[in-house]
Amino acid sequence: MQSKTSNDPDAPADRDTPPQSWRKSVLFAPAGESANGFHIPPSRPSILHLFDLARSHNDFLRVAAPMVRYSKLPFRATAREYGTDVCFTPMIMSGVFKERRIARDVELETNDEDHPLVVQFAANNAEDLVGATEYVARHVEGVDINCGCPQRWAIEEGIGCALMESPELVRDMVKQVKARTDVPISIKIRLHTDLRRTVDLAQRAEHVGAAWVGIHGRTRRQRSTEEPNMDGVAVVASSLSVPTIVNGSVTSLSTARSAVSKTGCWGAMSARGLLANPAMFDDAEYATTPIEAVQGFVKRAVEWGMQGRIAAQQVAWMMEGVMTRQERRTFNALTSLPAILDYFEEHYGIIIA
Ligand SMILES: Cc1cc2nc3c(=O)[nH]c(=O)nc-3n(C[C@H](O)[C@H](O)[C@H](O)COP(=O)(O)O)c2cc1C
Repeated sequence: MQSKTSNDPDAPADRDTPPQSWRKSVLFAPAGESANGFHIPPSRPSILHLFDLARSHNDFLRVAAPMVRYSKLPFRATAREYGTDVCFTPMIMSGVFKERRIARDVELETNDEDHPLVVQFAANNAEDLVGATEYVARHVEGVDINCGCPQRWAIEEGIGCALMESPELVRDMVKQVKARTDVPISIKIRLHTDLRRTVDLAQRAEHVGAAWVGIHGRTRRQRSTEEPNMDGVAVVASSLSVPTIVNGSVTSLSTARSAVSKTGCWGAMSARGLLANPAMFDDAEYATTPIEAVQGFVKRAVEWGMQGRIAAQQVAWMMEGVMTRQERRTFNALTSLPAILDYFEEHYGIIIA
C-alpha cells in the first residue's frame, strides 16, 4: 500500500482501497500469544503513522475528545468499538500526577485494547509535564497539553486557556517533552480573535517538535452553542505542516467529513457529539445510539468499577435521542449502576450480565 508522509500533503491518494480496509488491518490486529507463550498485546500503531495512512486513503482520523469526568476507559472502549480511531483521556493535572501515586492510580485507567491513546495533561511548567509524561510513556501513544480550558480556576492556575497568552511557555513545554522523552507531544488549542496569534502559537510549537495540533474553532470567550469558526481553523491548519485535528460541533460522520473538507485538517474530534452518541463515527452512520452500544458501555462500567453517578449520567446522554422526556426524568434520578441495570431490565427487557 502506498503511504504518503506528513511532509508530502499533496501526494496522490490511493483511492482504490475503501477507507475501512486500512483501519481494519492497522487498528484491529488482535492480541495473541508468542511461540513461547508470552502474551502479545494488540497492535499499537503510532498516531503519526495513522495520520499518514488515513491521508493516503483520502480519509481522516476520527478522534474522541478529552472530557473531564467522561472520556474514561468504559466510554473510550465503547467509542472505539463503533468507529473512533484515537481517544484522549480527560485532562489530568500533571503536577499532582507526577507527585502522587494515588493520583496516578486513580486518574489513568487503561488496558491492552485502549490504543491508540493520548493522555491530556494540564501543565504550567515543563518539569511537571516531563515528570508526568515519564510515568505514562509506556502506556500511551501521545501526550497532549490542554491550552483550551476556559474555566476561571484553570486560568488562575496558569493552565488551559491561560497558555494561549504564553506561546513561549507552550514552546518550552513541547521542547522539553520532545527532548527528554520519546512520547509524541501535541497541543489542543482554541482560536484567538486575532488569528495571527494562533498561527504564531501553533508554529512555535511545531518548530520545536509538536507532533500534531488539535484546533477547537472557538475563542475562549465563545460559548459552545456558538458556531465554530471553520475558516479560522483552516487558516491555522494551513500554516502548519504537521497533522491537525479540527474540533467544534462535529456531531456525526457527515459533519466530520464537512469539517475536514472545509479546514484541510487530518482528523476530526468530537466531544458532545460522542457523549450523545458514542457510535457516531461508525460507518453505519447511526443517527442515535444503538442500544447494543449502551449495553456495552454499562457492562464495561460495571466490570471496571466506574462511579455509578457518572455512568448513569453518561447513559442518560446516550439515550437522549431514544427516551421520552418523562423516561429521561426518571432515568436521570438514578445514581447507581444496579439501579440502571434494573431500569434496563424493566423498561427494555434487557439483562446486562
Ligand atoms: C463534559 C466536557 C468535558 C470537557 N473536558 C475537556 C478536557 O478535559 N480537556 C479539553 O481540552 N477539553 C475539554 N472539553 C472540551 C472538548 O474537548 C471540546 O473541545 C469542546 O467540547 C468542543 O467540541 P464539541 O463541539 O465536539 O463538544 C470538555 C467538553 C465537555 C463537554
